[in-house]
Amino acid sequence: MAGRGRFISFEGGEGAGKSTQARLLRTALEAHGHSVLLTREPGGSPGAEEIRKLLVEGEPDRWTPLAETLLFLAARADHVARVIEPALTSGTWVISDRFSDSTFVYQGLARGLGLDAVRNLQKAALGDFAPDLTILLDVDPRSGLERAVARGAKENRFERFDAAFHQRLRDGFLSIAAAEPQRCAVVDASAPPETAAANVWRAVAERLSP
Ligand code: TYD
Repeated sequence: MAGRGRFISFEGGEGAGKSTQARLLRTALEAHGHSVLLTREPGGSPGAEEIRKLLVEGEPDRWTPLAETLLFLAARADHVARVIEPALTSGTWVISDRFSDSTFVYQGLARGLGLDAVRNLQKAALGDFAPDLTILLDVDPRSGLERAVARGAKENRFERFDAAFHQRLRDGFLSIAAAEPQRCAVVDASAPPETAAANVWRAVAERLSP
């Protein structure tokens, strides 16, 4: 039987190219013979996809920061227990488009709940469960938002916060990556997608020996 799979998360602001890079990494890992599950947050399990609709649609101030955080964590607890953990146990590698760092940065910093509050809630919901590797796709918030707005999705509740909010996101992600260099790799997402993909692969190869 295969050993335990590895868990890789992609993080970054709006329009950083996370879904594209996650798909490219899945293809590269499959070419190395791994079984790969590509998933996303908020969502990734039937219950969490239901909660997702409550979070990404509607007015920016629809939820208080605390209520919003609890909804993200409810979705994540279901996603981990029902999808991610069983896949890892069966030897599948799991790639998630966003995970816990998004909650630290969006709810803890940008929405102002505070990092300690998020850390305590997250610990209660997930224990010590964490990605083996987190790829931070870093891009200037203005060009990221232009890409995200050009996509024209209706799931735009967070894109409607102001420019200062998005700058706080970028600073927050970079400070997490600086504080946890063993888990996090920063990749320049303003580079062409194939260049960014090569840098993502280098980080995965160096740290996880796929
Ligand atoms: P998503 O649809 O994946 O947006 P994007 O294409 O920008 O990655 O995520 C929906 C929004 O949810 C996104 O604006 C980020 C936000 N979010 C949080 O605020 N906290 C979280 O914990 C997660 C996972 C996402």
